[in-house]
Amino acid sequence: MTRTGWALALLLGSAAMAGAQQAADAVAPEGASGEAIATDVFGDLDAPARDALATKAEGRPVTAADWMVTAAHPLAVQAGARVLEQGGSAADAMVAVQAVLGLVEPQSSGLGGGAFLVWYHAETGEVTTLDGRETAPMAATPTLFQDEEGEPLAFMEAVIGGRSVGTPGTPRLMEVAHRNWGQANWSGLFDDAIALARDGFTVSPRLAALVAGEGDALSRYPATAAYFFPDSQPVAEGSLLTNPAYAETLRLLAREGADGFYTGPVAEQITAAVRGAEDNPGLLALADLSAYRVIERPAVCVDYRDHDVCGMGPPSSGGLTVGQILGMLGGYDLAEMGAESADAWRLIGDASRLAFADRGRFMADSDFVAMPTEGLIDPAYLEERGQLLQGDDSLPKVSAGSPGWSHARLWGQDSALELPSTSHISIVDAEGNALSMTTTIENGFGSRVMAAGFLLNNELTDFSFETHDDAGWPIANALAPGKRPRSSMAPTIVLQDGAPAMVIGSPGGSRIIGYVARAIVAHLDWGMDIQAAVAAPNLVNRFGPMDIEAGLPAALTEGLAAMGFELNETELTSGLQGIVVTPDGLEGGADPRREGIAIGG
Ligand code: GLY
Repeated sequence: MTRTGWALALLLGSAAMAGAQQAADAVAPEGASGEAIATDVFGDLDAPARDALATKAEGRPVTAADWMVTAAHPLAVQAGARVLEQGGSAADAMVAVQAVLGLVEPQSSGLGGGAFLVWYHAETGEVTTLDGRETAPMAATPTLFQDEEGEPLAFMEAVIGGRSVGTPGTPRLMEVAHRNWGQANWSGLFDDAIALARDGFTVSPRLAALVAGEGDALSRYPATAAYFFPDSQPVAEGSLLTNPAYAETLRLLAREGADGFYTGPVAEQITAAVRGAEDNPGLLALADLSAYRVIERPAVCVDYRDHDVCGMGPPSSGGLTVGQILGMLGGYDLAEMGAESADAWRLIGDASRLAFADRGRFMADSDFVAMPTEGLIDPAYLEERGQLLQGDDSLPKVSAGSPGWSHARLWGQDSALELPSTSHISIVDAEGNALSMTTTIENGFGSRVMAAGFLLNNELTDFSFETHDDAGWPIANALAPGKRPRSSMAPTIVLQDGAPAMVIGSPGGSRIIGYVARAIVAHLDWGMDIQAAVAAPNLVNRFGPMDIEAGLPAALTEGLAAMGFELNETELTSGLQGIVVTPDGLEGGADPRREGIAIGG
């Protein structure tokens, strides 16, 4: 099947399915199918954004000489492009993009959430990361998500309400990135978002479908219900939605910096909403907000096909798990096998299962628990784990390996659940700096608690609800006060000879890892351009069953079934946003499964 054929098959498959998520995907203005995209569904777009939508519809990458930005909503990308066009840095553009995303894609990320950022600094050639992950309140205990009998709460019972809300990290991360690498005036970076919040933005098909599909959960708290259900009706696609409270919060942030968020009236509104959430109040206190800090951490990098794949280390499992998958695949010739080969997908699927076994046992916030970070991506260890993939059939059983430790500790197997949500931003600026940032409020619409014009995260449910596994071993990702929950977010910058070759990342809960790894393989091994690489079919294996999208070639699915894989056809709504650097300039791609675009200049 051709690449366009794959994308068309995906589109037809998604349209046939029911439910909120599926409805959103069916109405999203998918590209790559050759269908025209109605640009007015996003309101007032400028010419570059309209062109970008047309390019995406044709399944082609956007090309440019100097700079590129790609994110999940045209209005956000348009705001970032304006900053870059005026000579702003990638960090400046990110602030503008995030401020708009929090308004127009409120279900996925925003000021009430957390983020991880990977940065390539053109002047020094160095890669570093910012950890803006939420923290558990100081009053929280490891049994926060257990009932009186010590049994774990049902997942959504834990999610909805104040209990799941961690200290947001995104506003401070925006400020630290700007302080480190920004060039533009901070306050001006909020102009587009403030104007859109004040004057109104056009509700997109995806947002309207997701609100309509939410039902009671989103109307449980009065402030949230009033915003998303004006006149008791879900916000309609194409309607104009204003958010004066968000405009006011942004004005404070623009004027006072992140302190205007972490102290004063915004902080008071957040804690009041969390602690006052009926039936399921939380513990977040003003002291948690004022004490919050962003942490700069070294990137974790793995060699793959003569490139360095650099991502986010703990508390995210993203960089390590993507790195493990690629590291195990290094000895196998995926290029020769091809993108539609069952052999290639057996290798990718089982490498992913092996990596997820290590992730479940070893990965958590390394500021709180001993973790074999270096051992997990040691080339010798990955080669040894990769040897397990020799053979013809799916591995009957996988378990965590024995990576090298600098100091010993044996952890139990974690079963924390992460559901798809989140958003991703990739940017390269005219000076050659590159930024890859994955940003989230966790579940779609987070905790469903709203304060000061934005939704609050439910990131604490990324912790294990249990403190020990069935064998009695303590779980590394158990909750502790001040600790950051393990993430799967995998913002990635791929370097060749020390310079960026690819900037990539995706939303999607713990499936993020599979989406990002397969996009890198699609580009580096199978030679796909960035638009084809983000649009290519998703097959994800975390725990045994192979999740697949509809419309795959029969030879592939039959081959995988014959190898012993249990196939699970389902929605795999990645939101890959990617940029590649070619000898001729920059190419940008946006996942056709969501509403994003790439704009370059
Ligand atoms: N909450 C999604 C993640 O951090 O991976």
